[in-house]
Amino acid sequence: MELLTTRAELRAWRNKVHGSVGFVPTMGALHEGHLALARQSLKDNPWTVVSIFVNPRQFGPNEDYERYPRTLESDVRLLESLGVSVVFAPPVEEMYSPEDEVVLSLTRLSRLWCGGYRLGHFDGVALVLTKLFHLVAPTTAYFGEKDFQQVRLVEKLVEELFFPIRIVRVPTVREPDGLAMSSRNAYLSPRGRAQAVALYKTLEYIQTLVPQYMLTEDLLREGRQYLETRFPEVKLEYLAIVDEYSLERIEHLRQSAAPRILIAAYVEGVRLIDNMPLRVPEEEEAV
Ligand code: PAJ
Repeated sequence: MELLTTRAELRAWRNKVHGSVGFVPTMGALHEGHLALARQSLKDNPWTVVSIFVNPRQFGPNEDYERYPRTLESDVRLLESLGVSVVFAPPVEEMYSPEDEVVLSLTRLSRLWCGGYRLGHFDGVALVLTKLFHLVAPTTAYFGEKDFQQVRLVEKLVEELFFPIRIVRVPTVREPDGLAMSSRNAYLSPRGRAQAVALYKTLEYIQTLVPQYMLTEDLLREGRQYLETRFPEVKLEYLAIVDEYSLERIEHLRQSAAPRILIAAYVEGVRLIDNMPLRVPEEEEAV
């Protein structure tokens, strides 16, 4: 495995290899969720590049850029044991310069849901991925469904900017109790960790109410009430039922071929997100 830190080294490597190249962009502090993406890429491609870069442009001024966990050494060891070909871990200066003028923004998709609370976040994601896609020139790139809005945004970015890259979605990897794995879970105290399962439990609870309730207004009200009574220390940011393609809110579950619940909440000041497809039974034949 090669650990590369400059654009020039990466380009030199890329120019030597032929065949399909899988790419897994990450911000490090790797856990089983990240590793699931890497394993999928290793299965699909003779070459796999994993990038580790805590992207300053996707953090707001009051967010956790400085304290985001950085565990490069153990990340590299993990990826090496998996059989990854290249880890690209550039310093910030290699990706951005103070004289930079280009910004990228997606109109609708970067303003919905998380984008409404984390202003500029998705534009920062789009910019760093555009740079990384150019440098790595992968044939396929892997993204987790855990960050569902991000996957949709990447699919749109690739489509509109004509990147010849196939985007593969990988299902969310969870802890045994259902909590979605996340590098930010490391910020939680044992007490907070116990509360953090609230997001998953609320999604699961809402699913149990279908098809008794089919109006999203009812499902969301019941879901909010469940969260408030069972997990009073968890501060809900948003809970929504959307069409998974457009990410627009729906009113009735039959309005979408693929309804999905999205949730964002704070536990001990740590922002956590999760999402789940809602299974809706086929309509019964009239007798
Ligand atoms: P990061 O949070 O490190 O996540 C890297 C990739 O791992 C993303 O595609 C994310 O969806 C996926 N992932 C995280 N937790 C997961 C889980 N529990 N199950 C499955 N996949 C999971 O997302 C980013 O970094 C950044 O925004 C990035 C795309 C690298 C751009 O900077």
